[in-house]
Amino acid sequence: MTVSIQTTSTNDKKEKYKILLPQIKSLIEGETNRISSLSNVAAALKYSFDFFWVGFYLIENQMLVLGPFQGEPACSRIGFNKGVCGTSWAQQKTIIVNDVNQFEGHIACSSLSQSEIVVPLIHQGEIVGVLDIDSEHLSHFDSTDAFYLETLSNLLTDYCF
Ligand code: SME
Repeated sequence: MTVSIQTTSTNDKKEKYKILLPQIKSLIEGETNRISSLSNVAAALKYSFDFFWVGFYLIENQMLVLGPFQGEPACSRIGFNKGVCGTSWAQQKTIIVNDVNQFEGHIACSSLSQSEIVVPLIHQGEIVGVLDIDSEHLSHFDSTDAFYLETLSNLLTDYCF
């Protein structure tokens, strides 16, 4: 069986998300193993958008623990309200950081990362983890990313949790 993601050369990120999300749905809807699905989603996002780092942190014993990801090795545990991920956990909302060097408490896993978006994964009203995406470019993420990544987050919690 061949598994592939159809990418597009368009620079319009809205179009990219619109093409990618149905494909992600097809990838995960028949799979019952969460690690398998989240791994494929991290890879699909990383290679469609050429993001610097894409990964999941999942809540386990009151910590965010590194889950499936694509990119350089990253810190394996993040506490409540720590860094951008822990702040998204505490506030249960999407956080966009235009310049990570200006975010107090930012946890730098790579000095190359310049901007970041963290989207909570909320299942039946309870946060179960976060999706974290880093870019090498300043101000890379905006409300379009937030909208489509939140849509993706809902898809993931429906199918994987
Ligand atoms: N920058 C994140 C830590 C995770 S890495 O970016 C992969 C944070 O501040 O929570």
